[in-house]
Amino acid sequence: MSGKPESSSFFVNPIQPKDTTSVPEITKISSIGRSEFAKDMPNPRRFDEALWHADGQFETVPPSFTSLRLSEVPKTGGDTLWASGYELYDRFSQPLRSFFEGLTATFIGDGYTMSAEKFKDRMEIHDGPRGSPQNVGKELKAVHPVVRTHPVSGWKCIFPVGPRDPRDYGAPKYINELSTLESERILGWFYDLVSQNHDMSVRFRWRNKNDMGSSVSASDFVDADVQQRSGTTAVLSTVQPSTTKVLVRGLVYEWQALGRRRISTLAASHERMRWLVSKLM
Ligand SMILES: [Fe+2]
Repeated sequence: MSGKPESSSFFVNPIQPKDTTSVPEITKISSIGRSEFAKDMPNPRRFDEALWHADGQFETVPPSFTSLRLSEVPKTGGDTLWASGYELYDRFSQPLRSFFEGLTATFIGDGYTMSAEKFKDRMEIHDGPRGSPQNVGKELKAVHPVVRTHPVSGWKCIFPVGPRDPRDYGAPKYINELSTLESERILGWFYDLVSQNHDMSVRFRWRNKNDMGSSVSASDFVDADVQQRSGTTAVLSTVQPSTTKVLVRGLVYEWQALGRRRISTLAASHERMRWLVSKLM
């Protein structure tokens, strides 16, 4: 985890057990705990699947990197999928990309607040800091740009992907500059593009106990089929999402970011030019 700002550290899940000896930076995940949460909900079967999301988007400094280890792997199925926010950005035409770049979205972790209330005899909202001195307080709410630049790659990606319903732990609630209907349609469009295009995602099959997967939650979304499983996650926070800032050796710099496809095209033409020049010499 070199190159992160000094103030950033491992993310602390906003819901913590009241009496515990466990490490707050390590979050236990369990399909049994999830079923318990869903038990009294309308239509609890919908909790048999996890929906596309990125962790902790309601924090001022959301997680940037996620690792997931399963100590109990699903007997069959139960794959985890990750999808690319870079690719989502690149799927839109230039006029739409420019339009999205002027927008901000509000993210609220009301699913966590609801869960803490439901299990208040043993759980509570941890008021921080949760991986950054900026992640404090019991109000789990943040405003971030719709198009953010990944702090390490410097590439642009679309950030607000996730269910909006708190019962599904949804975080991206609305786009601030648009009407309710416009916001719903655009957030729904982002979500649909991720869920309906298999060529934007990778599939990870859990085979052995203690297998690990890791992802870049600043630019990736995750979806999991919730077969019986348990394990732990450890997640690192780095910087506040921005359209123009990148991290170099722990320091934040302004950067004129581009999309991944544009950078690949520029790199390819640079390579062609070098090849041409080498032939002419
Ligand atoms: Fe997650």
